Amino acid sequence: NFTVKAGEIKTPVSPNMWGIFFEDINLSADGGIYAELVKNRSFEFSTPLMGWSIPKDAVSNGQILVLNRKEEHPSNPRFARITMPATRSFEIVNEGFRGMGIKAGEQYNFSLYARQQEGAAVKLTVTLLDDAGKEIGSTTVAPNGSSWQQYKASFSATAAAAKGKLKVTFSGQGVIDVDMISLFPQHTWKERSNGLRADLVQLLADLHPGFIRFPGGCIVEGRELVNRYQWKKTVGDVNDRELIINRWNNEFAHRATPDYFQSFGLGFFEYFQLSEDIGASPLPILNCGMACQFNSAEVVAVNELDPYIQDALDLIEFANGDVNTKWGALRAKMGHPAPFNLKMMGVGNEQWGPQYVERYTIFAKAIKSKYPDIKLVNSLGPSPDGDKFTFLNDTLRKLNADILDEHYYSSPEWFLSNAARYDSYDRKGPKIFAGEYAAHTKGVNNGENKNNWQSALAEAAFMTGLERNADLVVMASYAPLLAHVDGWQWSPDLIWFDNLHSYGTPNYYVQKLYANNKGTDVVPMLKGNQVISGQDSVYASTVVDKATGELVIKLINTAATVKPVAVAVQGVKNIAANGRLITLGSNDLQGLNSLDKPTSISPEEKNIDIKGKTIRTDIAPWSFYVIRVKIN
Ligand code: AHR
Repeated sequence: NFTVKAGEIKTPVSPNMWGIFFEDINLSADGGIYAELVKNRSFEFSTPLMGWSIPKDAVSNGQILVLNRKEEHPSNPRFARITMPATRSFEIVNEGFRGMGIKAGEQYNFSLYARQQEGAAVKLTVTLLDDAGKEIGSTTVAPNGSSWQQYKASFSATAAAAKGKLKVTFSGQGVIDVDMISLFPQHTWKERSNGLRADLVQLLADLHPGFIRFPGGCIVEGRELVNRYQWKKTVGDVNDRELIINRWNNEFAHRATPDYFQSFGLGFFEYFQLSEDIGASPLPILNCGMACQFNSAEVVAVNELDPYIQDALDLIEFANGDVNTKWGALRAKMGHPAPFNLKMMGVGNEQWGPQYVERYTIFAKAIKSKYPDIKLVNSLGPSPDGDKFTFLNDTLRKLNADILDEHYYSSPEWFLSNAARYDSYDRKGPKIFAGEYAAHTKGVNNGENKNNWQSALAEAAFMTGLERNADLVVMASYAPLLAHVDGWQWSPDLIWFDNLHSYGTPNYYVQKLYANNKGTDVVPMLKGNQVISGQDSVYASTVVDKATGELVIKLINTAATVKPVAVAVQGVKNIAANGRLITLGSNDLQGLNSLDKPTSISPEEKNIDIKGKTIRTDIAPWSFYVIRVKIN
């Protein structure tokens, strides 16, 4: 039997609980949430025509060459030159990221930059093809100038395609240069041009996340510093954003993604805007002068760190600065004169060793002296235990760090046995951010890891410990967030999608139940005088929601048998005679959601009767229960 001391407010729940971790891994950005359908639109992939093909019948009708105008346009130097020696039709076809998802009746917006060479009059016909190569919509474009200009045309798709393609037919005689060949659906999140896939953003919005950490993960670092994430190259006109190879390009030979690049159409402005749209605090992570330590030992010399630090200072100005400042003016020009209200920033991702401490110290001094209110986040390396972790944990605590970011990709058993991890943590020093975590049933970095119910249940149990320790744990995020079913490098992931559909995993619904029932204040919940963390396979924590006047109890049963529980609520005058019971569970620990059965394992809600001040329920085997009841 359990006791909830509803009158003893222990600590407020952090407004940043529970958040999301976004990284461009598993085709999360290009080919994923970024709604652009054309792959390699600017011919900047290291193989310049990757993603493009020339149908056999068209080969002899013309020629495509990729040229470079580096001096004129250093951030987007390449373009394609189409030469048509006689009046015929020449075609190029773009395959999309893993094909193009096309919806019947939907409007599509085509655009490109083009210039005709002197005297030429080459026209374009733009055609959508379905999976079988049948035409399902087209439009025409007639570029008419000899200097670069953008041309646009919209049309509707007459039928759907799961793996469609885009054909561009050139007709006429002469020479035409083309670049930034782009196709977006009209319907994006908030109907924005250069927008995001609405279904994926909706899944994120439904979590009501307290923060978004972006842009990663290892992509912050890059395998080498030249390919680190540099936010300044991701803002301004998309035509000027400099593409780089993605750190997850071709990571594992058996799941090769040689076509994985970052166009940065989804850049820092869009990340800030997304955060604002869904009510999440932005948490950008910046490179600290070190490349990914899993792949590379490259660091920038300490006396050459200034540009990296300047990037951090300028980012704060970009997010919060007055419109009269250089970077605040750019934000305004991009359509957002109001500040984005940036309050925290990460320095380095999974770094370790004295080299990190040395660089972080210089960053912290520079940032804190100009912006003392900005909180800094430090990662404690790739694992929650071991020498790397201990060294950083000890050192950064001595340096009075603000927030320490712990990452744990581990077995379900680890999550169960660590649910009490923070109950006895040092409270005097920095706050804790559980910045990347996921239960891996088959071992970390094993392609067979599935988002099964066993993994989700273990995370639900573990999260009682995060919730209960709200005075210490101020942020938490599952990782990674998104994965394309045809192009992933890492599993498990919170949300899976193909070109048209998406679904939340059981782990997603665990996150959602916590985030949508986060309450405002933690209250003690005890068995005898102990927290409930695995005794008889039950895990539990309780918050009150002052906004709604409810008690919100979370109960997890990790056993294969029913667990009857009685929760005696102390410190209240009244409890309503009935409340709401939300259950999430499966009688199969291997159970999954899928594109075909997206909500196989998803929450169900019903009324629950309450007699007196004791709430009784039988927790079904392998289940997560949330009980909400009015109190006063
Ligand atoms: O989430 C996948 C990767 O795991 C992240 O890029 C990195 O931070 C961690 O090692």
